[in-house]
Amino acid sequence: MDSIEIEGGRPLHGEVTVSGSKNATLPQIAAALLAPGRSTFRNVPDLADIRTMGRLIANMGPLVSSDRGTLSIDATDLSNPEAPYELVKTMRASVLVLGPLVARCGRARVSLPGGCAIGARPIDQHLKALQALGARIELTHGYVEAQSDGRLRGGRVLFDLPTVTGTENLLMAAALADGETVLENCAREPEVVALAEALVSMGARIEGAGSSTIHIQGVAALRPLDRAVIPDRIEAGTLLAAAAITGGDVLVRGARAVDLEAAIAKLREAGAAITEEPAGLRCKAPARLDAVDFITAPFPGFPTDLQAQLMACLSVARGASRVVETVFENRFMHVQELARMGADIAVDGHTAVVRGVERLSGAPVMATDLRASASLVLAGLRAEGKTIVQRVYHLDRGYEGLEQKLAGLGARIRRIKA
Ligand code: UD1
Repeated sequence: MDSIEIEGGRPLHGEVTVSGSKNATLPQIAAALLAPGRSTFRNVPDLADIRTMGRLIANMGPLVSSDRGTLSIDATDLSNPEAPYELVKTMRASVLVLGPLVARCGRARVSLPGGCAIGARPIDQHLKALQALGARIELTHGYVEAQSDGRLRGGRVLFDLPTVTGTENLLMAAALADGETVLENCAREPEVVALAEALVSMGARIEGAGSSTIHIQGVAALRPLDRAVIPDRIEAGTLLAAAAITGGDVLVRGARAVDLEAAIAKLREAGAAITEEPAGLRCKAPARLDAVDFITAPFPGFPTDLQAQLMACLSVARGASRVVETVFENRFMHVQELARMGADIAVDGHTAVVRGVERLSGAPVMATDLRASASLVLAGLRAEGKTIVQRVYHLDRGYEGLEQKLAGLGARIRRIKA
């Protein structure tokens, strides 16, 4: 297994470009299943999760090919509407194929994702909502089996809580259903809006994406897609945080303020100057940030996917910060590893109190999920001496060439091949 070695203590300077969004690409790949013919995606990040999704789709019949950031999917043949355990277990977002498969094929067999490092993450909302559209759902042998006699029927769905992939699954299913669907208490994340726009470009009739109520008028057929993927707001936020933790000055090209308002507000409150430039967002940070309190919440609240990275920044801030994680129950695994680098963080249930220390010291560390790994890289950039972040495959699931990007900003960082 590869690891990443960092000699910390250098402020980052320069410009870096954000890659395409992983979480926007995954549902749009699933949406390609809704239409026979060839869909094309540009600005696709080269990531393990995207390759997993490609394999998952290819296993169902479609032809999948990729070439330097362009991904093509010819979904004319969809003879095997199944997502096997071997692939689903490595990536929860595989569940995104459920809605499109049952909408187009009238049946789907998708492995239940099971637990993951950051919590139980059930899919009950996806299933309840598909049932409201007339799907019959059975859980057998660890699989969800969904069937519909003919087309799904439009219906009304009230989600118990806003779920990103749940909302996306239902947008796709309802796009091909018979009649009108109203989804309430929807997730409002930019990736949901991007999917709705992609579906509209396929001929779907959708209104309200980005608000909590979405109306969908089902259509009889959709055309293939040709889209460029939006920039990854979480990668952008991570790069801004990298500038912030090192006291650097970095222009993150492609970062969009509308996607990152909550994170920008917190970085500013901590003393960093975040400015909007035509090409993206610049973060110019003081040598030491100030403590800030924050709470994660569905969009437009502070994203849970940036919680670990901001916490790393606050671990060396002046004063004590309170961090409350409300989205996932088990998302403080970076805390123990940050502590090994000298951070002073106390966790009580969903709350972490971070008492800023003057310095972190490099250490061998590892993390069990993607964003936690990113926070350890950030801490390593700030720490004195050498940090080795192990289990880099988590990072590779969601960050395209992170170490090259950081090296381009002056970080002393390199990958050690296993
Ligand atoms: C997506 C993102 C992930 C991000 C998360 C929250 C993708 C591929 N992944 O994950 O990076 O961390 O949003 O912003 O886009 N829940 C239920 N029942 C359900 C579905 C969800 O109880 O049927 C709960 C979850 O356990 C969690 C909360 O709802 O507590 C939000 O999860 P959800 O928005 O569904 O996360 P994902 O879509 O899996």
